[in-house]
Amino acid sequence: MAYLGTDIESLKVAAEAIKAGKLVSFPTETVYGLGADAFNAGAVARIFQEKERPSFDPLIVHISHIDQLSRLTRSITPVVLRLAEAFWPGPLTLVLPKQPEVHDIVTSGLDTVAIRMPNHLVALQLITLSGTAIAAPSANKFGQLSPTHHKHVTKQLKGVEYVIEGGSTTVGIESSVVSVDEMKIQILRPGAVTAADIKKVIPEVEVVDFTKPVDNHLPSPGLLNSHYSPKKPLYISNNLDLFAGKKYGYIAFSGDGEMSGPAKVFVLSAKGDFAEAATNLFRALHYFEEEEVDFIVAEPIAEQGIGVAIMDRLKKAAFQYLKD
Ligand code: TXA
Ligand code: MG
Repeated sequence: MAYLGTDIESLKVAAEAIKAGKLVSFPTETVYGLGADAFNAGAVARIFQEKERPSFDPLIVHISHIDQLSRLTRSITPVVLRLAEAFWPGPLTLVLPKQPEVHDIVTSGLDTVAIRMPNHLVALQLITLSGTAIAAPSANKFGQLSPTHHKHVTKQLKGVEYVIEGGSTTVGIESSVVSVDEMKIQILRPGAVTAADIKKVIPEVEVVDFTKPVDNHLPSPGLLNSHYSPKKPLYISNNLDLFAGKKYGYIAFSGDGEMSGPAKVFVLSAKGDFAEAATNLFRALHYFEEEEVDFIVAEPIAEQGIGVAIMDRLKKAAFQYLKD
């Protein structure tokens, strides 16, 4: 493992590594990705090995230019183009019918492929210099915390050739994943781009909210109930009386963090801003994974806007959700 800077010479080294079938972890606006050439099946296989990820969980393919779409999908419809125009580069992943050239290992044998253009200069430069599309899941071991800083990546992954030192990510939670057809857009994983954001852009197409149940089958193979877990028990609760006398870290949504009870408090956003809270969520969980506390308690927040995505990640990371 070697660190690389974000200057153009370093990115050229990273791009050569991608071309040579190696793994490079790179920053995006959401979380760090563990990238390989999307069209090199052997390189993509190494992503699954390094992450210890089951092969049924497909990857997102990252592009830097809209012209790359046609190599990946045969479905470049007006709706797709309007979504791309409105949200790319940005934290929206589109699940679309795949081209035959896209290997089964990328899509876990599905006939669809997930595609996004990240809103991060380093990621866009790396993809362009590589001359290919880059398949990349989040750069963590399967089921563990997502990395929002390059130090989080090296904490978990030892076999990756290069990690680009991009510092902290800005959005802080993974992209919204949506399946798209002409009649219906379905939110498979909530993120910073919400159903309401999409409805504003395409009012005539039905947008099925993440919170609505989907007809009886798992819409996205990666949507397991347990995910994103810290190495300590995490409870979601705002009734701190339950934990009296225990040594725990508390993730507060807002405020000044002045409270008795918890051994340490991490405030996600002093002013209670949802986007800022999302930015800091995984940082808080990584922090308490390292701190001397026996477990973590997180305050539940309202499931509105990006709050839907924050609570989705917390519930999947949690050992228990203690509702009043
Ligand atoms: O923000 C992000 O999306 C980050 C950065 C690195 O871009 N990536 C990321 O990848 O979160 P990953 O692998 O951790 O999550 C990808 C999600 C999984 O839940 C997977 O099941 C879903 O996308 N997915 C991928 N391909 C799919 C497909 N063809 N159909 C349905 N869901 C798919
Ligand atoms: Mg992930």
